[in-house]
Amino acid sequence: MNDMTALEPRTLLRLLTCGSVDDGKSTLIGRLLFDTDNIPDDQRASLERDSRKFGTDGANIDYALLVDGLEAEREQGITIDVAYRFMATPRRKFIIADTPGHEQYTRNMATGASTAQLAILLVDASQGLLTQTRRHAFIADLLGIRHVVLAVNKIDLIGHDQARFDAIAHDFATLAARFHFHTITTIPVSARHGDNVVHRSAAMPWYQGPTLLEHLETIEPATAQTGPFRFPVQWVSRPDADFRGYAGTVAGGAIHPGDAVIVAASGRTSTIARIVTADGDRSIANAGDAITLTLADELDISRGDILATPDSRPDVAAQFAADLVWMSTAPLLPGRPYIVRIGTASVSGVVSKIRHKVNVNNFDELAADQLTLNEVALVNLALAAPVAFDAYQDNRRTGAFILIDRVTNETVAAGMIRHALRRASNIHTQALTIDRTAREARNGHRPAILWFTGLSGSGKSTIANLLETRLHLLGAHTYLLDGDNIRHGLNRDLGFTDADRVENIRRVGEVAKLFADAGMIVLVSFISPFRAERQMARELVEPGLFHEVFVDTPIDICRQRDPKGLYRKADAGQIRNFTGIDSPYEPPEAPEFHLQTATSTADDLAEGLIAALRVRLGFPI
Ligand code: ADX
Repeated sequence: MNDMTALEPRTLLRLLTCGSVDDGKSTLIGRLLFDTDNIPDDQRASLERDSRKFGTDGANIDYALLVDGLEAEREQGITIDVAYRFMATPRRKFIIADTPGHEQYTRNMATGASTAQLAILLVDASQGLLTQTRRHAFIADLLGIRHVVLAVNKIDLIGHDQARFDAIAHDFATLAARFHFHTITTIPVSARHGDNVVHRSAAMPWYQGPTLLEHLETIEPATAQTGPFRFPVQWVSRPDADFRGYAGTVAGGAIHPGDAVIVAASGRTSTIARIVTADGDRSIANAGDAITLTLADELDISRGDILATPDSRPDVAAQFAADLVWMSTAPLLPGRPYIVRIGTASVSGVVSKIRHKVNVNNFDELAADQLTLNEVALVNLALAAPVAFDAYQDNRRTGAFILIDRVTNETVAAGMIRHALRRASNIHTQALTIDRTAREARNGHRPAILWFTGLSGSGKSTIANLLETRLHLLGAHTYLLDGDNIRHGLNRDLGFTDADRVENIRRVGEVAKLFADAGMIVLVSFISPFRAERQMARELVEPGLFHEVFVDTPIDICRQRDPKGLYRKADAGQIRNFTGIDSPYEPPEAPEFHLQTATSTADDLAEGLIAALRVRLGFPI
């Protein structure tokens, strides 16, 4: 009989290790690498040298030094950031994502785990399960890892005691019952002495299960290969008029020339003509393959579309529920627009609701109106346009997304989609007979939004008021939305936390849009301290309609003027979250109008605005 196994490509297992320095995680990884001969000779020699210098294990080799390879880490005695290690045995190749056990755990686990198929959770046998074990199990489950190894380390410290090992295994099984793990394998190990890591231990004859390596070499995790076909289009390749291909990476399933495909968002269908690669055409493409597809028909397909097979289509919706891991030091504010990147699609979106956040140490579900660094929550998202996606539990590539801050470009969250929300799908836009053009013709001028932003007491309302009076005399149709006034009515339920200010501006942006649609020149006078929300208000209307007016008054002058006596109170600590004092103001970077009140009078500034607007808004002189 032919032995084919030697010729088959070795499979790859991606795994994640979770545990703290004290649990012996670095030692375990070091031991795995060492005992599987994955350490080059010169590194072995330097390991022996370093163990004498920095080691924590007397004259013996300190395996942790193999993985805590950075000077900084050695000095601090902790492991920082996510590190990837590569290991190979005759049976398999491994990529090990090593994430630290200290404060940034959630973010780092989310980063390291996105492709991991198995997680090794480490516990110290002498300590049993700790809060961090619960946390690691929770996050591993959240990130879709379905195979877990509980490595009960330092088993020598409890005298290789079977009863205590069994108790830990039982505790973990109870804890994990709420999760979705397919396999839980509990192994007694001593990383320091090498027991049951690669070599079977003689000290624990009662243990009949596999060694850690045996388990890692034989486990058969489900792969993206087995799911339905998914192809998020990365870009449309048109090198010349004759060729039109769609480039990307297969995110699930497999495809052949001749197979029927559907464009998820539009529902248009065609068949695969060719699978093109740099090495020539192929007869099959599998999950993970980077390819270019050509279709039998000319369809309107662009970046962000997903090609699928007609029998199993992704969801298409503009609202969905998702688990969110918040990764930024700036808080998540519901209602604030972020860029949502799902696969190859990018679209503006907001967290419309935090349904609850989760205490990852005890799994309690808590009410929240914002999220801070490392917090995890179930949220609703609302996007500016529908996108195609799957539930994360069905496909970890097409079901995952990130949120990007529009101002700083920072990745602020990682998300896992649970399911689409259909609530808006039965509300259609009503076509109306009298449209904006009709109103414009009657008014004799174009509508506009003049958005005044600046500190409290900067002079926004004074200038807006002067301007409205002048416009009115010119026969313009105007309306002034003023923060103080709107806060007595429509926004009476809102205070001055960041979250409330975001909602304040979101509502006023919508109201301004309605007035503009009614043909009016709308003057909006709100502090509106955040760039992101002013940008959102701008994007609600067509380009050219929104004019940002920055009323730029140094805070010291506002404080001197103090028209409402509020600075005095805020300085005395009687008002909290006061803009410019203990709440931020983000000045506009490119306002249409920049008014400096320190050097000009309100009258002159209003007059200057009128002159500029006459041209822009088409008034007869
Ligand atoms: S915004 O920041 O949400 O845009 P808005 O313009 O509606 O603020 O309201 C600001 C007005 O509320 C100020 O002019 C001031 O009169 C009053 N006010 C009361 N408390 C505060 C506070 N903590 N910060 C700023 N303004 C406050």
